[in-house]
Amino acid sequence: MVVKICKDYDAMSRVAANIFAAQIITKPGSVLGFATGSTPEGTYKELVKMYKEGLISFKGVTSFNLDEYVGITRSNDQSYYYFMHHHLFDHVDINESNVNIPNTGGNLQDECMDYERRIKAAGGIDLQIVGIGNNGHIGFNEPCDNFVENTNVVELQQRTIEANARFFDSIEDVPTKAVTMGIGTIMRAKKVVLVASGEGKADIIRDIVKGKITPMAPASVLRFHNDVTVIVDRAAASML
Ligand code: F6R
Repeated sequence: MVVKICKDYDAMSRVAANIFAAQIITKPGSVLGFATGSTPEGTYKELVKMYKEGLISFKGVTSFNLDEYVGITRSNDQSYYYFMHHHLFDHVDINESNVNIPNTGGNLQDECMDYERRIKAAGGIDLQIVGIGNNGHIGFNEPCDNFVENTNVVELQQRTIEANARFFDSIEDVPTKAVTMGIGTIMRAKKVVLVASGEGKADIIRDIVKGKITPMAPASVLRFHNDVTVIVDRAAASML
C-alpha cells in the first residue's frame, strides 16, 4: 500500500485523476471502476477537464460502478446512476452501452450474479477508485464478521444512513439497502486508488493504514492487495 499525502482536496483530486489518465492513455480499452460520494467529485472534474483539452478519450472505456441504492429509480437525482452521468459520463465521450451501474430495479440476486459475470466478461477491472466511509466501508461493504466475496445486497448501517442524509431532504428518505460489489470484487481489480479528504476521515485512515486488518474495518483488506495507492489530503493524513 502506497500512501500519498497531498496538500489539499484539489491536489488529491489531481493525483487521482492523473492515475486514471495514465491508465486510459496506456490502455484506451481500459475497464474502469468508479465510485460516487463527495470525495471523487474533484477527480471526475479533473478528468472532464483533461477530456475537454483533448488529452484523454473514454471512447474505448468500459465502466463499472461500485454500488447503487435499492428503492430509488435511476432518474432520482440521488441515484448513483444520476450522479455518474451528472459528474462524468454526460461530459465525456464514453459509450453509454459500456456503462455499468448495478440495476436495482428488478431481481436483486440475479443482478448481483449478472454484475459479476459482466465484469468477468469485460476482462476484469483494470483500475478501481474507492472512497471510504467513516466506518471503513468501501463500496457499501459495511463492517461485519467476514469479507464478502462477490456483488451482494446489503442493509446500510445507521452510521452510513446518517452520513448520507446530507444529500437527502430528510433522513427518512435515505435508502436503507444497496447493491454493492463485494470485497472480493474490489480486490480482484488490478489497481486500486483510495481517496479520502478532511479531518473526519483521519481516524479511519489511521486505522486502515496502521491498524489491524479486519472485516470490522473493511478497507483494511486493501493492505493485502499488491497495487493500492491511498491518496489523502493533509487533514485526512493528520493521524498517521
Ligand atoms: C460510493 C461508495 C461509498 C463512498 C463512501 C465515502 O459509491 O461506495 O463507499 O465512497 O461512503 O463517501 P464520501 O466520499 O461522500 O465521504
